[in-house]
Amino acid sequence: MFDLAIRGGRVVTPEGIVEGDIAVTGGRIAAIGRDLGAARQQIDGAGRWIMPGGVDPHCHIEQMSGMGLMNADTWETATRSAALGGTTTVVAFAAQAKGQRLQDAMSDYSARAARGARVDHAFHIIAADPDAPAFESDLAALIGAGHRSIKLFTTYNIGLDDTQILRTLRLAKTHGALVCVHAENDAIIAEARARLLAAGHTTPRDHARSRPREAEIEAIERICQMAAYVDTPVMVFHVSTAEGAATIARAKATGVPVTAETCPHYLLMTEDILDRPQGAKWMCSPPQRTLADQTALWDALLTGTLDLVSSDHAPYRMDATGKLSSGPDAPFDQIANGLPGLEPRLPLMFDAMVTKGQGGPEAFARLTATTPARLHGLPGKGALTPGHDADIVIWDAARTHRYGANDLHDNVGYNPWEGVTVQGWPDTVLLRGHPIVTQGTLHAAPGTGQWLPRPLPPSSS
Ligand code: URP
Ligand code: ZN
Ligand code: ZN
Repeated sequence: MFDLAIRGGRVVTPEGIVEGDIAVTGGRIAAIGRDLGAARQQIDGAGRWIMPGGVDPHCHIEQMSGMGLMNADTWETATRSAALGGTTTVVAFAAQAKGQRLQDAMSDYSARAARGARVDHAFHIIAADPDAPAFESDLAALIGAGHRSIKLFTTYNIGLDDTQILRTLRLAKTHGALVCVHAENDAIIAEARARLLAAGHTTPRDHARSRPREAEIEAIERICQMAAYVDTPVMVFHVSTAEGAATIARAKATGVPVTAETCPHYLLMTEDILDRPQGAKWMCSPPQRTLADQTALWDALLTGTLDLVSSDHAPYRMDATGKLSSGPDAPFDQIANGLPGLEPRLPLMFDAMVTKGQGGPEAFARLTATTPARLHGLPGKGALTPGHDADIVIWDAARTHRYGANDLHDNVGYNPWEGVTVQGWPDTVLLRGHPIVTQGTLHAAPGTGQWLPRPLPPSSS
């Protein structure tokens, strides 16, 4: 007798699509197949896609930004939004402040997640100051305890220089961690920003001009060379340009241990969105690019150059606590970067990939759940496979939703996808076999999400 069975759906597994049932016992997937035996609880899956719960490996939650601004979301609000969007695992950041011990940063972030998280979670360690006390021993201890990824920046006021990056790569190799990189050349950005501001060009659209594509291309090339030299896995975050993707394709072809992600706002938005009223809503780094870049990024995703789609959820309200902290008419360099994306990531990608057919249901599951779990070392997550956690989303492929001005369940107060209609909706969401969302109603209490220690050193394939 199974605990639960979802009957008669189209179950998307790594081995293919199974028309039949998926059964759950003890919070794990027990079986997938036709006419499975009796269960204490039944859910009718007829006509529905049964997908793995989303794994979003790049979310800024209750985090202090490089500009010194706290995210709008707490763990409670961010993971409410994640669950309602079909995401059951998030990887967020434990951000080291300058001079701070890594262990102290991790204790602080972990305690807040333990109190507030409604979905399962892990942390990337943001290495902002390799000269802080006990940096090397703390890093080794944290990696050994299961925090097997490090995030570093090549820009912002927390960017590392080349020597510090190499040192961090060596430590990651020694102790077994994946290094994730925000790759934009800081000198190019600084020069572009200074020229624009001196000429009085201060608008959100000028933010995009201040982050030239060459900045991304150069930094991706450089980090690939460093990864090749040290021979340790790196993941390039939020690739936005055709040339950035092409650089990764070349590196992969020569055996460099590099993987890469992109995000819905690079696949589905272009930089002219920054010309809209309140353009600050869409300001992020790197910025949205062109239609030609979108085409190249889709091609790279579907041919394996780019490995996964994350949200880069970076929530700031359009008020003095966030985007407008330096006033309503602040120049672009004083406006927080980032947009909310945890909740719409899966509906947007389902609409593009399943409803509109760009890649199809198996690629959707792979890019939004299975590969993020595998590359970030989360065994038991991201795939509908017997023995894995029963993190399951039941999708209504016929339901449409037109996003409104403020209909997300985070704490941001605006929806950057306002006016966009998606077809396909995550009706029911199970986390470890428990229904955390049914017909749009949230049941997951704060603190019920579990921290996921990552036992394995990452692989790059
Ligand atoms: O603009 C963005 N993406 N802000 C969040 C921080 C980062 O760069 O990942
Ligand atoms: Zn970034
Ligand atoms: Zn980010």
